[in-house]
Amino acid sequence: MAAVFITGTGTDVGKTYVTAGLIRALRADGRAVEALKPVVSGFDPHAPDGSDPAVLLKASGIAWSPEALEHISPWRFAAPLSPPLAAQREGRTLDSAEVIALCRDRIALARDRLLLIEGAGGVMSPLDDNHTMLDWAGSLKIPTLLVAGSYLGTVSHMLTANLALRSCGVEVLAVVISEGADGPPLDETVQILRRFLDDVPVTAIRRGEGPPVEVLGSIAPLLD
Ligand SMILES: Nc1ncnc2c1ncn2[C@@H]1O[C@H](COP(=O)(O)OP(=O)(O)OP(=O)(O)O)[C@@H](O)[C@H]1O
Ligand SMILES: [Mg+2]
Repeated sequence: MAAVFITGTGTDVGKTYVTAGLIRALRADGRAVEALKPVVSGFDPHAPDGSDPAVLLKASGIAWSPEALEHISPWRFAAPLSPPLAAQREGRTLDSAEVIALCRDRIALARDRLLLIEGAGGVMSPLDDNHTMLDWAGSLKIPTLLVAGSYLGTVSHMLTANLALRSCGVEVLAVVISEGADGPPLDETVQILRRFLDDVPVTAIRRGEGPPVEVLGSIAPLLD
């Protein structure tokens, strides 16, 4: 069917929360959807609850198993660091070409479903020693959802990330603000961003809630 890359202004901004919410909403609507979080740092195999693969598998209605974990997150690292640094701590290397090749294979296989691929960290966080998430998104040539938190500073981070994606020819379907525990009022942040981003839908997910129709609407054209 199609694939969407989920990226963000940084780490811990809500990429997985937004992706899991989308998966639940799409499944409830009878849509076939699959998640892929190829590279995960800070992963403890003895305490996987709450990890990105665990959250995404649960939202997908897939039981936890070693095979399911390997399928959704083939590159797992223990240190809560950027992927190349976390890999280095384990005497391993991460090759962006391998990550991109795996994504291409999965996109080709996902003919009958929407594939949601979550990156790691922010738009220009390192993927390997010479490439960032931006190279990853740009190589896949699939549209993105750009996720940010609602913290002070998010407007600058969002505008910068949007500019970076577009400068590499990456289509931004929508920006999604996932409301943080504190920070400036969400509605004001949305209004400010809408003034600066008049050609990209600016949407928001309130704390503890699922994606509103505007977020789902931004990916609706991909579902046909
Ligand atoms: N709208 C929201 N409502 C409630 N909790 C949220 C919301 N957005 C994010 N969170 C919570 O904030 C924390 C960080 O979010 P999340 O794990 O989705 O970030 P991330 O961008 O995927 O991080 P990473 O870079 O590690 O992949 C999680 O505990 C998540 O449940
Ligand atoms: Mg995540």
